[in-house]
Amino acid sequence: MLKANQDYLKLPGSYLFSTVARKQREFQEKNPDRSVIRLSIGDVTQPIAPVIIDALHRAVDEMASAESFHGYAPDLGYEFLRKAVSENDYKARGCDVEPDEVFISDGAKGDCGNIQEIFDKDCRVAVCDPVYPVYVDTNVMAGRTGTYDEKSGVWSDVIYMPCLKENNFAPQLPKEKPDLIYLCFPNNPTGATVTKQQLQEWVDYANRNKAIIIYDAAYEAYISEDDVPHSIYECEGARNCAIEIHSFSKNAGFTGLRLGYTVIPKELEADGVKLHGLWARRHGTKYNGAPYIIQRAGEAVYSPAGRKQLKAQVAYYMKNAAYIREGLAQAGYKVSGGVNAPYIWLETPDNMSSWDFFDLLLEKAGVVGTPGSGFGPSGEHYFRLTAFGSYENTVAAIKRIKEM
Ligand code: MLT
Repeated sequence: MLKANQDYLKLPGSYLFSTVARKQREFQEKNPDRSVIRLSIGDVTQPIAPVIIDALHRAVDEMASAESFHGYAPDLGYEFLRKAVSENDYKARGCDVEPDEVFISDGAKGDCGNIQEIFDKDCRVAVCDPVYPVYVDTNVMAGRTGTYDEKSGVWSDVIYMPCLKENNFAPQLPKEKPDLIYLCFPNNPTGATVTKQQLQEWVDYANRNKAIIIYDAAYEAYISEDDVPHSIYECEGARNCAIEIHSFSKNAGFTGLRLGYTVIPKELEADGVKLHGLWARRHGTKYNGAPYIIQRAGEAVYSPAGRKQLKAQVAYYMKNAAYIREGLAQAGYKVSGGVNAPYIWLETPDNMSSWDFFDLLLEKAGVVGTPGSGFGPSGEHYFRLTAFGSYENTVAAIKRIKEM
């Protein structure tokens, strides 16, 4: 009998950010005269930097003549971009990553979701709690997570690593033994991070236990403190236990352009099988490469002018982060994050549920954020605001929250 994929049917509700967007839409329909400020999904609002716009224009023009036209991109990425990534994101930081270990893609979200495909269905997955929902949901779709308990919001076969204020929102090494460990630092959603020493402990743990860390470094450009690692490959031994995923969305405003990459060291193995080859095979079969035009835009990110312009863009968002953090603290909220990350994590007042606070904030202040419980059970009674709005909207939102 023809059946839909039964693992998809296990997914509870809709994707977190779709639910948040739907609730905002419904509120606007009912209240067409109210102005609503969106500080929910981490979507950038500032225009693409001029040097990147120039690169886009040039690449578009190349497409107009037979001599410089580009068809299918190489499925693992153009050499010029793989080289720029290797040199600037890794070698310049003393990390040993070669261009042919960099797999260019159309964004980190897809890579975060797809990477689990190259691992066995019986792998045990460990995630931070709260967590970016893509890691868990894609493992649900792959049939790897067991059964869902609606009351606790927990999957029977997932190892949860609570990130609580008691541990500064950094996970402890798990008691049960995982095969795959998802880590994201600076963290989405809590904005917390770990020191190089703490990350080294994870690398050592993974190597001891023959586990693999999938390290999501999407927010690396927002690091402001010295002792925070920009890449897991800064840690000794990481080439034997870690895959790293990067985004151009947050450091260069590419949420609408789509570009990312994944690094898989050539020696990285699972049970004697080289993962580099498997991911290359997957790309070759399922992917025709990120567009030439967008990869040229990505190359411009690493030019001297690109770096300068993007530093200013990141500073713009981090000014918002500081404004939110300080404003909420003045208003009596308990806040964290926003120092090395564009996310501010706050405790809901009076132990309110995250969704109740979402409704209150929308109703009273016309501000949309993201309920912490949407990121996992330990996110309950927390709430996330992003620094990716415009400065004017950020100031207006904090004013409204203070007046609530
Ligand atoms: C978020 O708001 O958590 C992120 O923007 C979502 C994403 O990057 O896919």
